[in-house]
Amino acid sequence: MTLKRFGVSIPEDLLEKFDEIVKKKAYIGRSEAIRDAMRGFISQVEWEAEQEGTMASLNIVYQHKPRLMANLIQAQHNAHAHVVSTVHVHISKSHCLEVITLKGDRHSIEGLANKISGLKGIEYVRLFTFALPESENSGHTH
Ligand code: NI
Repeated sequence: MTLKRFGVSIPEDLLEKFDEIVKKKAYIGRSEAIRDAMRGFISQVEWEAEQEGTMASLNIVYQHKPRLMANLIQAQHNAHAHVVSTVHVHISKSHCLEVITLKGDRHSIEGLANKISGLKGIEYVRLFTFALPESENSGHTH
């Protein structure tokens, strides 16, 4: 791998905030953090351009109340995106973490994420999306 150097001009306060994160996340240095940030940015842009064959995981935290759980299950059954798997973790006496793996086009994945984040009682939602280049979409054997 060839490494290239380039100069960047950015506002001072932005750099300060960035350096705080570099420290907090224990990156070796700015370069490593910038590489990481660029990969995330590229993946996000590719995801936005992609319409089919995209994967996502929806991470949610909520208080386990029967009504909310019923609504969650219903939302997943009615979704246009394909729900590949759902992992449920009872993280405390009151709270559950759920990781829902999804496959589908951007519109249907975002539709389900928006629907779930709007449910009463959902306390945390984070959607992680990923798009592979066209040539790598066909799967592989282990
Ligand atoms: Ni639970």
